[in-house]
Amino acid sequence: MQKSTNIVITGAATVLLGLGSLLAAPGLQAAGQGLDPKVCKDKDNPPKDTVTQGYCLVIERTKGNCMGCHLIEGMSSGNIAPPMVSIKQRFPEKAKLREQISDATKVNPDTVMPPFGRHNILSADEIDKIVEYVWTL
Ligand code: HEC
Repeated sequence: MQKSTNIVITGAATVLLGLGSLLAAPGLQAAGQGLDPKVCKDKDNPPKDTVTQGYCLVIERTKGNCMGCHLIEGMSSGNIAPPMVSIKQRFPEKAKLREQISDATKVNPDTVMPPFGRHNILSADEIDKIVEYVWTL
């Protein structure tokens, strides 16, 4: 009895996992205006341009993990924060965008967005790169 319950549970989990990757797959392909997450893992040939480096920091869970809250087109992402679209139009000044990422509490003391710079979650250099990538969205 115990054994068959386990099989049912494992089976259900497998189906769910399969569904998850099906849902995520089209997103990954279109991630970051054609950027492929695989480029971030290529140790022999790490990305050299700042936009791609910024993209890799954005999707890295231990770094920006921005899509945990923000919708980024083509990525499986969260929706508790404004979607990352038309950033260039909405933040014509990169300095303002940088401040939002470095310390969102300066703009809104009650925000749930982590103050990435102030809390040293990201270095100044990393924030610069993220600004370059986010500006392309
Ligand atoms: C824990 C959730 C969370 C994470 C993670 C997060 N943000 Fe946010 N972010 C928010 C919320 C909520 C707002 C809405 C404004 C506010 O709360 O003041 C926001 C606002 C913004 C804004 C300005 C609002 C707009 O119009 O788009 C930008 C730009 C932004 N975030 C960029 C980022 C970047 C880049 C990252 C990753 C480095 C990131 N956020 C990670 C929650 C988050």
